[in-house]
Amino acid sequence: MKTPSVVGYLDRLFAHAGEELTVRVSVLDPSRRYTAELVRMICGETGPKGPGLKEEKIAAGLAEQYEGIEQPTPVGSYAVVDRLPPLQAAEVSLLVWPTLPGRSAQTLVHLGALRLFLDASGAAALSLGEGTISTARPLRPCWWYRVTARYDPRTGAASVASSPFEGPHNDRRAASKGRLQRNARLNAPMHLAASPGPGGGTADHFYGKLESPRIRSGRLAAQWDFARGMGTTRIEETSRHRLHGRTVNAPKRAVTGSKWNGSIHDWRQDPSHYAAIHFHGDDLYDACWKPSFAIKLPRDLKSGFYAVKLRASGPAFYVGFIVSPGPRAKRAKLAVLASTVTYLAYANYRRRMTPGPFELAMGALPTVDMTDILLAEHPEFGNSTYDVHRDGFGVSHASIRRPLFNMRPGGRFWNFAMDLCLIDWLEHEGIAYDVITDHELHAEGAGLLKRYRAVMTGSHPEYYSLEMLNACDRFLAGGGRFLYMGGNGFYWRVTFPRAHPGMIELRRAEDGTRAWAEKPGQYYHATGEYGGLWLRLGRPPNALAGVGFIAQGFDASTYYRRTAASRDPRAAFLFESIGDEIIGDFGAWGDGAAGLEIDAFDDKLGSPRHALVVATSENHSNAFLLVNEEMASNSHGVDGTLNARVKANIVFFETPAGGAVFSTGSIAYVASLAHNGYDNNVARLTRNAVERFLDPKSFAVPPG
Ligand SMILES: [Fe+2]
Repeated sequence: MKTPSVVGYLDRLFAHAGEELTVRVSVLDPSRRYTAELVRMICGETGPKGPGLKEEKIAAGLAEQYEGIEQPTPVGSYAVVDRLPPLQAAEVSLLVWPTLPGRSAQTLVHLGALRLFLDASGAAALSLGEGTISTARPLRPCWWYRVTARYDPRTGAASVASSPFEGPHNDRRAASKGRLQRNARLNAPMHLAASPGPGGGTADHFYGKLESPRIRSGRLAAQWDFARGMGTTRIEETSRHRLHGRTVNAPKRAVTGSKWNGSIHDWRQDPSHYAAIHFHGDDLYDACWKPSFAIKLPRDLKSGFYAVKLRASGPAFYVGFIVSPGPRAKRAKLAVLASTVTYLAYANYRRRMTPGPFELAMGALPTVDMTDILLAEHPEFGNSTYDVHRDGFGVSHASIRRPLFNMRPGGRFWNFAMDLCLIDWLEHEGIAYDVITDHELHAEGAGLLKRYRAVMTGSHPEYYSLEMLNACDRFLAGGGRFLYMGGNGFYWRVTFPRAHPGMIELRRAEDGTRAWAEKPGQYYHATGEYGGLWLRLGRPPNALAGVGFIAQGFDASTYYRRTAASRDPRAAFLFESIGDEIIGDFGAWGDGAAGLEIDAFDDKLGSPRHALVVATSENHSNAFLLVNEEMASNSHGVDGTLNARVKANIVFFETPAGGAVFSTGSIAYVASLAHNGYDNNVARLTRNAVERFLDPKSFAVPPG
């Protein structure tokens, strides 16, 4: 399979007409030549049963051809202290909790010519210039050790030692002494968890946690306390010298440290239990690529889904983004809320190419596309929050400052590409709309939504911050109309760490359908917010949308059947010109509108009692399973062939302020809109809902 030989990113997910975008490109093709176009995306790849890729070239004054470079990506987190006074004879020590000892040499502290590290066997070692001494006793993974090095430049006398913390499986102390090079310089900068590498980069990254590094040298005693400055990029030095340093590539903070014993779970209660930082050689916050060219977006550019389409040899690489209305733009009555936070959480999803029970989860052989292969060839582009780091620990961070392999119309019928089905349908129907983004919703709150009469989500608005949820609630409280056009929405809490613009943080805590589980004691984000499912945080999606996540399956989709409640006069507008009992027994994803991840009404979880469940899916396969957060304990009969709860509900309800909510409860729903030349009952139902929701006439909650 041919892979794109050019890759790029913008350091933003949305822009306004008239703005200038900086495009950063790396050309993998040896010719180093590539072309670039601005395209408006109307439809993504849909497979043979959908309308297929539709894009429109936009004149943006770009050159015919560009000459590029292959850009290095400085992957791996570490910390650096830029300023230290000259050091004499030194003792360097720190607490170490290695997660991958014995795989490769990993630097703990690199200070001028001195390097304290775990050697290839996993043993603590010290090198100065050419000479190395090692304890020759490998550290055990996920165990705390104090590692200490001493060096006297006058004599070359050196020692290194590792001492395990006591515990039921106690290891023992190991030490080694020797004579190394004399007069080696111990000068700043000091690196923690990596060594300085060629070309200003870093090498030999450490996987695991470090805590309380300290230096004694002559009259200097310096100690860094990682419990301070949580949520920042700063590592604070506690002496009067204030030799503060900084972290690079967003290592994970608010993680349990050597003192943690299960008595504290919120790091703010006693930060000393959280005095560690977890570093990973595959962390990536900022790829730091050089700008390649700029695009000036035309002033009259329509709001929508766009991409910078890059091509060298091989297939094109699309750098997707949203054009949303600027502050003074005239607004449509309808907004499509693009799930940019969810796109980011999924970006650079590697699980299809990593070993694991992926086939079982899919109920099918995984399909692999060209960018899966490109991602596998380029581990330096970072992971998605669905992946685990090389040491097996979950990925909690996702940043926009790197190529994002899912903000594209092809290959993966999910997120960006799936939401384009909605755009394609709106275009076909001639319904005027703006596209706004999760990121703007988080920053601007309900004020953004209040500019619209109706707001419709994409197919899978899974990741929400508290600010985003509150904004949706306020919109409804003010009479807004809300169309939830997907499944498994409003599910995980994310936060936006201030010190890392463009990054989200996620802790897959406690419960839920999880790609990985957060470690005990680490359920609070570095921002201080308690992570996990909104369901477990007292904000179930049902309260907002009338439905919440109930089951998932990826083998085939199915249909909905109208219910008796759909005959209620309150729902009459929805079914105007629809004679069918069966809704959506067709579609570009799995031949049905009800599939992938599905949501159901549940008044015990906050679905409004007056809500009408107007259609219910049926006939799901045994690959559709009730989600674990809906079970107190496991049992027989949780699959779609046996369990009555495994179903998607289409729900409608009015709100006290005169607004209303319409929810489809299925990710696959939007992939049915284009069936039969857009003439089908899913499209009709959606059109009926949108038209009524755009009508200013108030809705009324029924009496009783
Ligand atoms: Fe998801």
